[in-house]
Amino acid sequence: MLNTSQIKKDFPLFTHHPDLVYLDSAATALKTQGVIDAERAYLEEYSTNVMRGLYPLAETATEKFEMTREKMATFIGAKSSSEIIFTSGTTDALNLVSKLLASQIEKGDTLVTTAMEHHSNFLPWKELAKTKSADLHIVSLTKEGMIDRESLKKSIDEHTKIASFSAVSNVLGTINPVKEIIALIRSINPKTLIVIDAAQAVCHMPMSVSDWDADFVAFSGHKMFGPTGTGILYGKYSLLETLPPVNFGGGMVLDSCAEDTLYKESPYCFEAGTPNIGGMIALGSAIDYIENIGLQNIHLHETTLASYAIEKLKETFGEDISIIGPSKKEKRSGIIAFTLANVHPHDIAGILGEQNICVRAGEHCTTPLHHSLRLSATTRLSLSIYNNENDIDKFISVLKEIQAMFLNK
Ligand SMILES: Cc1ncc(COP(=O)(O)O)c(C=O)c1O
Repeated sequence: MLNTSQIKKDFPLFTHHPDLVYLDSAATALKTQGVIDAERAYLEEYSTNVMRGLYPLAETATEKFEMTREKMATFIGAKSSSEIIFTSGTTDALNLVSKLLASQIEKGDTLVTTAMEHHSNFLPWKELAKTKSADLHIVSLTKEGMIDRESLKKSIDEHTKIASFSAVSNVLGTINPVKEIIALIRSINPKTLIVIDAAQAVCHMPMSVSDWDADFVAFSGHKMFGPTGTGILYGKYSLLETLPPVNFGGGMVLDSCAEDTLYKESPYCFEAGTPNIGGMIALGSAIDYIENIGLQNIHLHETTLASYAIEKLKETFGEDISIIGPSKKEKRSGIIAFTLANVHPHDIAGILGEQNICVRAGEHCTTPLHHSLRLSATTRLSLSIYNNENDIDKFISVLKEIQAMFLNK
């Protein structure tokens, strides 16, 4: 296990709230001192624009900004930094890729997604299908909350243009075998463009976009200890170089006149306007931090702690608790969503909050999944490198008090 008392010192939020039990890292991860320092340094010392100024301060900003792109390419196993498009988050990245691919969709084509998706990886495809009179196929899940291979096979055929699914579910905690699923889709229709929502995978386990052979991968910087308003769309360069830009403005143009415009190459032609410069520079510091700890160590820490939490929850609440998602621990990430008999998730989260314990309750932006589970809400804890068994014990002890409170009503 990681040395969490040492790690907590790297996150200044714990200096301000020493007793806080933060179990909501799937919503957003806390920020390291290094990330905060990097953003502050940009704002205080060289807050100039990038790609424009020819004076030394602007060159420094551009250099550091581009350094994050280089680091990110290596971090996710991309072949080159030209495959890394800066966005404001996963949502922005998925909307961008749906717009980039829109011109390729015609009436009668099929778009495929799954029943476990976050709204961000469902609505852009649903809207695209609607606008183009294309069909949207939703792959169903097994009882255990895994992608059902048979349903997937039935959904893919010669009409399938795009298939998009998440690497890790933000509610079920399911770790999808991304490489295998991509290979399965390609074995049925090699032309299908495959998009991966890696929002809940990126800083929790080793991953390589090249090894997956994904066409596009989206994720958020703020879920990997970076600032909010930062995100990435990875795209294979061989595809990006064929796609025309969909957002227009400054910073993306080589030459323009009334008749014609010559756009820059990827990724710059997809990044119109002034980006989140300080945020992206600080995201570079988050990458350094994660690499220093090691993704394999992070994965082991979070999954071991998740198994501890699940065992304790079952031991304490028996049949009153229902934990959704896979029962096999090797199929699960550090995300645990559950229902507790006779207590509404909002009551649980509200009362835990009063005791300095942060969890999330509701549908977690996955209404289709909650509908299919016939649940109006769940309570979710999501683990990170700063969590330890003490956090879980405190959470369970307050949850027990909450249960008693409602039983006595
Ligand atoms: C699986 C998944 N996809 C997409 C998103 C959207 O991320 P963002 O709000 O950072 O754009 C989230 C956020 O929780 C998520 O968990």
